Amino acid sequence: MTFAAVPAPKPQLTGRAALVTGASSGIGRAIALRLAAAGASVVATGRDRGALDAVRKDAGSAAAHLHVHPADITDSDGRADLAATVRQRLGSLSILVHSAGTHHRAPMADADISDLDHQYAVNVRAPYALTQLLLPDLVRSRGDIVFVNSTQGRSAGPGIGQYAATKHALRAIADSLRGEVADAGVRVCTLMPGRTATPMQQRVFRSEGRAWPSDTLMAPQDVAEMVTAVLMLPARTTVAEIVMLPTRRP
Ligand SMILES: NC(=O)c1ccc[n+]([C@@H]2O[C@H](COP(=O)([O-])OP(=O)(O)OC[C@H]3O[C@@H](n4cnc5c(N)ncnc54)[C@H](OP(=O)(O)O)[C@@H]3O)[C@@H](O)[C@H]2O)c1
Repeated sequence: MTFAAVPAPKPQLTGRAALVTGASSGIGRAIALRLAAAGASVVATGRDRGALDAVRKDAGSAAAHLHVHPADITDSDGRADLAATVRQRLGSLSILVHSAGTHHRAPMADADISDLDHQYAVNVRAPYALTQLLLPDLVRSRGDIVFVNSTQGRSAGPGIGQYAATKHALRAIADSLRGEVADAGVRVCTLMPGRTATPMQQRVFRSEGRAWPSDTLMAPQDVAEMVTAVLMLPARTTVAEIVMLPTRRP
């Protein structure tokens, strides 16, 4: 019996153009690499140029369509330059993934109000403004917007009120936007991961004085896999919200 050669599966995001923020580290890094491996053209951004160059190196054969652009997304000129690079490198953007974020933990009795301002600037104002800037492109391409939120965006634990407030705000922005752009064919997803093994989570464990339980946390690649699955669903279906938790309580 002979078998015809089975063609290699076509990377399913070929032809799509993605911007991933927070791509220099952790979850955003894993998402940028996964989207590029699935065939998307990607602009990966963060502030740390060296870390972005390392992401490109790790992309292997997909590096040809993974571009890096360092930017501080809290800065309006930085956002404008980033949008210009996206248009120049990718043409019509069809996937915007917001993973950049910052986290500060303190009970209200001790918290510094400037930490609230900073978390608001990075976690809420910057993704709002960047989305606003790129929305015409995403409407034109009937694209996807993914907000990497947090389980703290659904229900706030003690000692984390500032961060949780920014993530609740981000969820509200996504909910409102989803209703505004659905008829234009744009899908908006809020993804709420629990504890994931990234440099941010390492800092959290250090601040809690706890040992690093590397085997019980989710991996950033698990979150990237979920984002890819959401993007690959037929255009008729929107995944509005997803909660991902480590199976065992870390
Ligand atoms: N890890 C978890 O357990 C967990 C759980 C729930 C939700 N999340 C959320 O997941 C997202 C990613 O977190 P992570 O754990 O991957 O954290 P991470 O490893 O610390 O990465 C954070 C990313 O945000 C970027 N960033 C921060 N401030 C920025 C700014 N002003 N301009 C541009 N980029 C900036 C950083 O890039 P540069 O330093 O290069 O600027 C970095 O790439 C965040 O939104 C976080 O809130 C994480």
